[in-house]
Amino acid sequence: MRRLGLLAVCLALARCCSWDNCNPVSTDPNVLNVHLICHSHDDLGWLITVDQYYEREVQYIYDTVLQELEKDSTRRFSFAETGFFMRWVESRNSSILARWQKLVAAGQAEAIGGGWVQNDEATAHYVDIIDQMTLGYEHLKSLFGECGAPQAAWQIDPFGHSREFANLAAQMGMTSLWFARIHYLDRTQRRTQKNLEFNWVGNDEQKKSIFTGSFYSHYGPPDNFCFDSGCNDEEINDGNVDRRSRQFADEVKAQASHYRTNNVLLTMGNDFNYQQANKWYRNLDKLVAYINANPSFGMNVQYSTPACYANALQATPTIWGSKQDDFFPYASGDHSFWTGYFTSRPAFKGMIRQASSYLNLGKQLTAHFNLNDDAALETAKRASGLVQHHDGVSGTAKQVVTYDYQQRLDKGVRQLETMINDAVKKSSTGTPPTYTLCLLSNETVCDVSQKSGSYAVTIFNPISRTVSSFVRVPFYHPIASVADDTGAAVKVQIVPTFSIPPLSSANIAPYELYIPVLLDPAGFRTYFVSGSGVSGRPPKQSNAELAYPEKVIQPSEADTVSIENDYVSLQFDANGYLSSVQNKKSGTRRNLKQEFLYYESSANSAQPSGAYIFRPAAQTTKTLSTSITTTVVKGASVQEVRQKVTDWAYQTIRLYTGQPQIEFDWVIGPIPKENSNPIGKEIITRYTTDIKTNGLFWTDASGRQVLQRTWDSYPQFQYEDTEPIAGNYYPVVNRIYMKDNTNQLTVLTDRAQGGMARNGALELMLHRRCFHDDHFGVDEALDEPGKDGKGLVVRGQHWVLFDEPAPSASTHRPLAVNLFHRPIAAYATVADPVAYRQATKTKFAGLKRDLPANVNLLTLEKRSDGILMRLEHIFQANEDPSLSQPATIDFSNLFTGFTIQSVQELMLGGNKNSTGKSTTVTLNPQEIRTFSLTVSPMAPKDY
Ligand SMILES: *[C@@H]1O[C@H](CO)[C@@H](O)[C@H](O)[C@H]1NC(C)=O
Ligand SMILES: *[C@@H]1O[C@H](CO)[C@@H](O)[C@H](O)[C@H]1NC(C)=O
Ligand SMILES: *[C@@H]1O[C@H](CO)[C@@H](O)[C@H](O)[C@H]1NC(C)=O
Repeated sequence: MRRLGLLAVCLALARCCSWDNCNPVSTDPNVLNVHLICHSHDDLGWLITVDQYYEREVQYIYDTVLQELEKDSTRRFSFAETGFFMRWVESRNSSILARWQKLVAAGQAEAIGGGWVQNDEATAHYVDIIDQMTLGYEHLKSLFGECGAPQAAWQIDPFGHSREFANLAAQMGMTSLWFARIHYLDRTQRRTQKNLEFNWVGNDEQKKSIFTGSFYSHYGPPDNFCFDSGCNDEEINDGNVDRRSRQFADEVKAQASHYRTNNVLLTMGNDFNYQQANKWYRNLDKLVAYINANPSFGMNVQYSTPACYANALQATPTIWGSKQDDFFPYASGDHSFWTGYFTSRPAFKGMIRQASSYLNLGKQLTAHFNLNDDAALETAKRASGLVQHHDGVSGTAKQVVTYDYQQRLDKGVRQLETMINDAVKKSSTGTPPTYTLCLLSNETVCDVSQKSGSYAVTIFNPISRTVSSFVRVPFYHPIASVADDTGAAVKVQIVPTFSIPPLSSANIAPYELYIPVLLDPAGFRTYFVSGSGVSGRPPKQSNAELAYPEKVIQPSEADTVSIENDYVSLQFDANGYLSSVQNKKSGTRRNLKQEFLYYESSANSAQPSGAYIFRPAAQTTKTLSTSITTTVVKGASVQEVRQKVTDWAYQTIRLYTGQPQIEFDWVIGPIPKENSNPIGKEIITRYTTDIKTNGLFWTDASGRQVLQRTWDSYPQFQYEDTEPIAGNYYPVVNRIYMKDNTNQLTVLTDRAQGGMARNGALELMLHRRCFHDDHFGVDEALDEPGKDGKGLVVRGQHWVLFDEPAPSASTHRPLAVNLFHRPIAAYATVADPVAYRQATKTKFAGLKRDLPANVNLLTLEKRSDGILMRLEHIFQANEDPSLSQPATIDFSNLFTGFTIQSVQELMLGGNKNSTGKSTTVTLNPQEIRTFSLTVSPMAPKDY
């Protein structure tokens, strides 16, 4: 009867998504509804590359599932990774696609998760999570309409779960969230308390909860019930069906006793399963038929989907528990804490963050300049989306697979060059020169600046506010002359490059140029640079009287070293270490020491430290060096203390004029490897203060909301002190802080890292090299060879703030946006700046005015149907008396590149309508609002 009713629903709605067409459940409390979730977990790269997985395994999954679903309308399949699904669609013909569309429209195939990949939750930034979900959704929607808008978030494999992910999923309109991996002690307790399923409240502001199910065990089928090409379990036939059904029923009843309703979910599938879908469905058909035909089992076994299971639970009067915190750190055993991957492959993690910032600039350019760069943008989106995979950004794929990711990401990043050049063409009446990005400026290498004596640097600001900053340009001449967009001379600072032997290369620039830049909101500005003189001479500026030679500090004067700007002054001790910081506003002086240390990795054969796992051999650290060689550079733009710590650890501590942060620009590697029985080393930086931490510190969730962490304690289950350090490590996507009543030390990171704080000392793991596989499948040691095979060298930055607690958020919230979206420089050879200026715009603002300090333009992207725009409130409630207030924005007359015709508000994923249609919106703390705008772009001549 129920089924007929649903078919009527299907007819009335003129559609029949899987959740409108669930197989009937029994409402008899004495009957156990067994929901078989046929699924396949398909990693987009791990042990082999994404291409290899597709070619060897994934294509056969979709080919065979298609045939099997068509054979019987009660069968169901839930498909997750949109990146693979699109690959299949694009490699088959339209009639194959039409058959799959029919299955989705009939409710037999359900899109779950829906992201391009199943993203990692510890190390992926929320911007990347939103982007990769949106990318998957976009394709599902265009293929399947409303039935392609997933209802179930499906994060079955990530190694721990972020509270912010739960929030984002709820904001996307997902109605349930599913996963397997939670701390082993948590799982035991949840089984006992029948609390595996609960409502998870995603943040303290919107407080929107999402119904969440953590599986009974992993995401595979019950033991002895795997039926794919690679499974050897006894197949079911007329001779054994009674015995096999009883065996199945026993297992199911054991699981069901840990749940609150008369429904139980069974994940019937596993990694790359259903390559021989026939085998799966034939065997399951037999179980279903036999058990359902024998009431003595007291079971109704059915093909189901996550959304149908969630519907069935919703229909019961159950009272669920709730959760406010998150699922970090994840441990699968008493010495197996999955806290190493927070830092694993730090260069790759850094590259991903940078690519994300480039992608977001590319998107903005398509909207401001009405570019027809769909293919370039799609390539960039797919590349950035791909690496959010839980074996991508996590750093847990094999080395060759990582190289493949990096190549794809590099190709994605290069698409920005296309979009920049097209944008510049639109703002020119002539034929502007070709711009390129200098992707190795972090290693002080830049092709254009090396090869041409005179060039333009166009600097883009993806931030929705005016930015005053400095751009560091690798420079090959001792004398620099720089003009701004109007031709007026700019005072720059030129300094000899800090000699860091691990980074040395044939093309390294001998100098670095600091150009002070002032950039309009979501705009660009062109600067003209020319160099002269013979390299090797002391640097100077042609258009300024000041020269800034470096000063090598002698030991006798070392304890007098200090650098300063308007905000702080830093004092260094006789060994070259930072020793104290003075706040120039309040005049207070505090102890602040920074040093590099390392843990030796455990080589315990039962559980060594590796790509996933952090397990130090001892709970104490070793020092890299007691005495540091120091050089000081002082100029009008920056003051630097350059430290050589040891021959594989270098750091520049930098203060910029007019900026509050202390920049720690670290270079680590190659981490030494002994010739025999090498010992793994996990390198940390530690900031030591007098702050009375009282066992507390705070870390971000996915780069957004901040969660309080308590030393040696977890909020919902008993902490056991089996791994005293690793069990207190938390993911830091972009910030960590500690505080007491008078002081707060905040560290912003430019990539994901693991970290913790206790007793006034805050540490972050920067780099790790481990020589043992940690037994979770990757089957390879985390021993990155780097460019020359001697070991990977990584450079990255921390922005550190030392202030009173009350004003700290007002600085770290906007600065985190600034660090993510640092100005992006593109270079082009320009012999005649005057001619360039006559033909081509040298200054552009995408916005007519700055957005308020608490609001960020999160997304601006041209799509086939208009423009996708997101605005976010970047503060949490109660962080700041004024900036944590709601912010009202009227965006009707905000953009310079187009005028808005109509507005449709969307849910966060961009695939579902919301109700708003106004150009005025009020954003509450932590709120993100998403809009589809139909626009009329500006005529080309007006750019
Ligand atoms: C599509 O591909 C299938 C399988 O390769 C083939 O049988 C069918 O004829 C093709 N249809 C069209 C319209 O090309
Ligand atoms: C410099 O940046 C490039 C591109 O993102 C990256 O591949 C490389 O690892 C970085 N170098 C260092 C030393 O971190
Ligand atoms: C969503 O909004 C757009 C624009 O207002 C409209 O054309 C479309 O029909 C709406 N979709 C649904 C499912 O309501």
